[in-house]
Amino acid sequence: MPMARESGAWEGKIESLSNEGLGVGTALVQEGGKTLRRPVFIPFAAPGDVILANVTDQKRKYLFGEIDAVLKPSPQRTEPVCPHFMVCGGCNLQHVSYEEQLRQKGKQIAYFAQRKGVQLPEEVRVLPSKERHHYRWRSRIAIRFEGRCIAGFRKHQSNEIVPVSTCFIVHQSLVELISLMNEAQTDIASGEIEVVAVVGQRGKVGVLVPLDALARESRQAVRDFFEQLYARNRQVIGNVLFAEDGQTRTYGQVQEHFTYETAGMTFSFLPETFIQANVATNEVLVATALELIFGEALAEREVVLDLYAGIGNLSLPIAKRARAVVAVEGNEQAVQQGIANALRNGVKNATFIHSPVERYLRELVRKKGTHPHYPAASSIVLDPPRTGLTEAVMRELLHVGARRLLYVSCNPVTLADDLFVLHKAYAVRRVIGIDMFPDTSHVEALVLLEKR
Ligand SMILES: C[S@@+](CC[C@H](N)C(=O)[O-])C[C@H]1O[C@@H](n2cnc3c(N)ncnc32)[C@H](O)[C@@H]1O
Repeated sequence: MPMARESGAWEGKIESLSNEGLGVGTALVQEGGKTLRRPVFIPFAAPGDVILANVTDQKRKYLFGEIDAVLKPSPQRTEPVCPHFMVCGGCNLQHVSYEEQLRQKGKQIAYFAQRKGVQLPEEVRVLPSKERHHYRWRSRIAIRFEGRCIAGFRKHQSNEIVPVSTCFIVHQSLVELISLMNEAQTDIASGEIEVVAVVGQRGKVGVLVPLDALARESRQAVRDFFEQLYARNRQVIGNVLFAEDGQTRTYGQVQEHFTYETAGMTFSFLPETFIQANVATNEVLVATALELIFGEALAEREVVLDLYAGIGNLSLPIAKRARAVVAVEGNEQAVQQGIANALRNGVKNATFIHSPVERYLRELVRKKGTHPHYPAASSIVLDPPRTGLTEAVMRELLHVGARRLLYVSCNPVTLADDLFVLHKAYAVRRVIGIDMFPDTSHVEALVLLEKR
């Protein structure tokens, strides 16, 4: 058993990775005359490493440390490819082999469910990302002006911006954009902003600049900076979108190039709307969702409710096979894109509704399927943000009583909390993980539930 060697030091073997990507070991500590086992969390430690660590902090029953020396490296330890690794906070698992990352992510989905007493029917397999590097088509980029432009990502556990010369997470066009910003001349003396950059189908970049985040007097200089950046680099930048006072004004070429392809369909999107950022692996996500929903063929004659529908990424491929789809989404621009995407792809049996999911479900329960916008759906897809389902959604969902739920989650912790509530009425039938974000601790999970 790994021992606390002396006060402030721990030597032992790393057993697993936490959901935040920290190496986890077990320390024996003396408390109140007893020897107790306590988890110790250590950044940049790989499962299987034997390490000597400094224990830097203790919060309740958890110890936190930093690697002092890797005494015996794990066979799963790999050489990071990025020179900014461990400083830049953009990723945290480059030191772990890809096979081990997938294995650990599967274990995390199972661990959090089991901790809540939810039994999963199968070992969780995590399907790999289609692209190992440069997979993100949408990213926030942090910028600081100080007589020059510093562009990059925030440091680990800090607000400081690391100016990066390269990045293996974001698309090559976004790496180019970051370099252009770092090289651009400017005399703007101060100010910080986070832009959202997206890649279109033809590789050109759209940059959304939230001018609202800046003091009014510095906005014109920042606007000029980006207009010049665009004018000088039209081979890389397709558009700059300035968001100010509730309006977005587009500067540059026509926006038609913000599209991606999935399931034989073309989806248009805007920088401000949600997209599955790993566009290549989104193909796997959509195919897996279709396989789970239509696995038993019954859903083909059904109305499917797609809650948290975004721009119709899941709704439209589902509509191609279901009787009809009702897609509910709270962001108005995403709804507009969803409607345009249905038209563009010739989908006539999908209805988009702009509403919070909470309100939609409340009406659905009240109208009991008698209104065309509130049909009795027997399959429901749920793809909520990282925070998971709200109490109101969970309560109404249990009243709706659909036969099947497909829960698409990007956070194993909130997924487990929600399954804990749902599994009294619904049995978990299938669980499949998908790695949308290699080298980071994030994982997507698809869970099929059936009414007991
Ligand atoms: C994880 S995204 C999923 C989008 C889509 N299913 C996809 O695959 O691209 C979550 C979506 O839920 C929307 N959203 C968040 N909270 C909501 C709420 N309470 N009611 C309706 N939509 C909400 C967000 O605007 C976002 O588009």
